[in-house]
Amino acid sequence: MKAVAECVPIGVEDLDALVTFARDTQIDLVVVGPEGPLVAGLTDRLEEAGIRVFGPSAKAAQLEGSKAFTKDICQRAGIPTAAYRHFTNADDALAYVREQGAPIVIKADGLAAGKGVTVAMELADAENAITEAFDGRFGEAGAEVVVEAFLEGEEASFFALCDGERAVPLVTAQDHKRVGDGDVGPNTGGMGAYSPAPVMTPDLVAFTMTKMIQPTLDTLKADGMPYKGVIFAGLMITDKGPELIEYNARFGDPECQVLMMRMQSDLLPLLDAAARGDLSGASVTWHEDPALSVVMAAKGYPGAYEKNTPINNLDDAGADDSVEIFHAGTAEKDGQVVATGGRVLNVTAMGASVAQAQALAYAAVDKIDWPEGFSRRDIGWRALQREMEDRENA
Ligand code: AMP
Ligand code: GLY
Repeated sequence: MKAVAECVPIGVEDLDALVTFARDTQIDLVVVGPEGPLVAGLTDRLEEAGIRVFGPSAKAAQLEGSKAFTKDICQRAGIPTAAYRHFTNADDALAYVREQGAPIVIKADGLAAGKGVTVAMELADAENAITEAFDGRFGEAGAEVVVEAFLEGEEASFFALCDGERAVPLVTAQDHKRVGDGDVGPNTGGMGAYSPAPVMTPDLVAFTMTKMIQPTLDTLKADGMPYKGVIFAGLMITDKGPELIEYNARFGDPECQVLMMRMQSDLLPLLDAAARGDLSGASVTWHEDPALSVVMAAKGYPGAYEKNTPINNLDDAGADDSVEIFHAGTAEKDGQVVATGGRVLNVTAMGASVAQAQALAYAAVDKIDWPEGFSRRDIGWRALQREMEDRENA
């Protein structure tokens, strides 16, 4: 960000200081990125101060902030999603999973940075997840738990811009949530992504718009909490069609990076129109070429990791025109770039095929000198398999 803007050190959750800064510097449009401040009501606070905001109100952001809230909307709007039960104590939840058996999915109700979900293949894992959540592993977020039927299929993410009543479709992406190659190990915030997700055919996109996104917007509007901002639907494409896994109230990470590589339209007027509440007539154009992003994370993530480790050779690694290195968790200390987070860099490339985008992204990853970092080496594997099958069938 420093390359294009002045960075100001205000915490993302320091709502008072953010509103004061935006007012004093006469900011015209605020784009709220992360879920924390959205759920805490930054949009509401800025709008009260007369400042235009892209991002949902605290009430509408419950789509991400509370799994139970979203499940309730799905039920009322007839949106396909896994069967579920909602619990406020461990005993009832434990009794329920013992009755249902594994595989089964346990979710902390509130925000848990992508780590609040346990896909339990064995009953014991489900029992542990419930006990831990009610023992406070996720703090307040785990004080309530949603237990959900296990869905089988391929995952895809779908995005749309919303102005309170209308939705303009963006494109699809596929994330890689598990920390390890071959989709093994614990869930993370996302270790890499590509766009488009080939599993999302035009028919499935149309289904998602008419049977999920629009009914959600209609329901929220009727409830007096119109949704403005970007809506991110996490989908499982099952044998029976798409089922909603979750909503996020923001661009995903690393999904945003691959979307931005492919977007041809100017982003700003679109965000501004959504914030003004009028996306009528808006459309978005895209590069046909796929984009792929590899996350470089600090060794140890999603568990404990070291901070302030030095990263070098970023300029050289990002020199190719088709490559963009997005920083997620870095700082500059005395002229040295250092890692300050778990997921630290998004090494992103666009190519004529997923295979080419992947090769360019990993060539850049390999040039980055960061001994304390790691990445998955197989981002894009499903799409690559498809490209290979398509070539064999051609
Ligand atoms: P969420 O935070 O709800 O997106 O869940 C994180 C990840 O857990 C998802 O991306 C899926 O990989 C997995 N997951 C969540 N719900 C289910 C489900 N009902 N069945 C199977 N996998 C799930
Ligand atoms: N990559 C998934 C997310 O941002 O929630």
